[in-house]
Amino acid sequence: MAKLIRDSWTSRLGIIMAVAGSAVGLGNFLRFPAKAAANGGGAFIIPYLVSFFLLGIPLMWIEWTLGRYGGGYGHGTAPGIFHNIWRKNRFIKYFGIIGIFGPLVIFIYYTYIESWTLAYSFFSLAGKYKGITDQLGLKTFLSGFQGLEKNQYFNSLGPAYLFFLIAFLLNIVVVYYGIKGGIERFCKIALPLLFVFAGVLLIRVLTLQNPNPGQPDWNVNNGFGFLWNPDFSALKSAKVWLEASGQIFFTLSVGIGVILTYASYLSKGDDVTLSGLTAASLNEVAEVILGASIIIPAAFVFFGPVEIESIAKSGVFNLGFVTMPSILNHLPLAEVLGFCWFGLLFLAGITSSVSLAQPAVAFMEDEFNISRKKAVIIFGIVSFILCQPAIFFLKNGVVDELDFWGGTFFLVVFATVETFLFGWIFGIDKSWEEIHHGSDLKIPKIYKFIIKYVTPLFLFFILGMWFWQEWMPIIFMKNVAPENMAYILATRIGLILIFAVLAVLVKIAWKRKKETPKGQV
Ligand code: ALA
Repeated sequence: MAKLIRDSWTSRLGIIMAVAGSAVGLGNFLRFPAKAAANGGGAFIIPYLVSFFLLGIPLMWIEWTLGRYGGGYGHGTAPGIFHNIWRKNRFIKYFGIIGIFGPLVIFIYYTYIESWTLAYSFFSLAGKYKGITDQLGLKTFLSGFQGLEKNQYFNSLGPAYLFFLIAFLLNIVVVYYGIKGGIERFCKIALPLLFVFAGVLLIRVLTLQNPNPGQPDWNVNNGFGFLWNPDFSALKSAKVWLEASGQIFFTLSVGIGVILTYASYLSKGDDVTLSGLTAASLNEVAEVILGASIIIPAAFVFFGPVEIESIAKSGVFNLGFVTMPSILNHLPLAEVLGFCWFGLLFLAGITSSVSLAQPAVAFMEDEFNISRKKAVIIFGIVSFILCQPAIFFLKNGVVDELDFWGGTFFLVVFATVETFLFGWIFGIDKSWEEIHHGSDLKIPKIYKFIIKYVTPLFLFFILGMWFWQEWMPIIFMKNVAPENMAYILATRIGLILIFAVLAVLVKIAWKRKKETPKGQV
């Protein structure tokens, strides 16, 4: 059977928009403000920026380069890419499974959360939560919507499920049309629109008046100060470092596997240095300029520094789905502003989730020669089934569990493997040459040293800290409520099974390659 021709990007702008679309996501507008506020604002920003320069930027370049390299051999996912880098090691392709497993696991809860933002955009325009101005009321609204309780607003999970179906289908349709016909075309419209929504909200926040005459210090300026006045004492806290570096991975979509896949549709002479840096910078603008300048200053003006921290600590969704609408409901044109806020979140979410779907699809296409349309249908059916526990067992901690393994832990492990392969197995000199093929930007030499030594050491430090501080309680579920233990255990077993199935598929794919005479597949 003839090998299928791989898809490609139509332009450099196309891939930059797609990678930036993947990076700019719920992480920028929900996770970042929540993490920053929960870690005391200014205490978070230094470890965050250090992680950006020492982990984020190097990994961005590593993934763009490895992806383009692998694409040259017809591989768009990590098993094939890693295998090509280290042919002598027959196990390395199995480490590459993380680059399909991670995005799939994130996809199955991320799409559900993304569907809430679609629902809330609609509720906002339809005035369904209009007039609820206190946080308690909006919290009740959210709990009813999520099916955590029956209340005056919702008496079933029906509406949430309906919006999930719509969001899920939209994702599948975009991926179905492929790299240039679906993802690139969609991101080129969605990303600029997202920036327009963010701009509208930013202007509104900058012109907010303090509604608390008794608290003259609660103003927009001090809201910015809350985040930007550095607190050096927090540099000693391992927890803040872990959270900040974890945020860098999640927000840039590095360590996940999706950038490898996107970059595999480039050709050898395409630039990766400037494009990678541009995509990363766009993400940072969306995160530290827009993401940080909307929720945090607004919440500061209305609730003050102490309450922001406690709201953020009470759950990652509270700032976005409770605090923000409660603030907007105090303002004129609340429906439109609410629509901008949740519309922004939805666009940010969907441009990321389509990227999370692509590695599994690319794996089927590249390694099993399955046509894109068939691969997307298989992906749609399997991931739809896998999404169900996240929807129905949200209150039992399933989403948090998936987020921990898929969205936090494995990112660091995967990034460590990639950095090791790039700096040490491929070799930093050869890698340096590879990175600069067709490049429009010469990377400062210091990054050779950083990629070879500093980034891996930093990664080992993060992993080491994690093992030291959290290994036991997490493995033995010390912080899990007794009634949720069975659900968490079932989630873990499910994750192991997904990994095992992927491992078997990799084994079969490589066996088939060996058995097929050259030139036929
Ligand atoms: N990078 C994506 C986000 O920030 C996953 O949400």
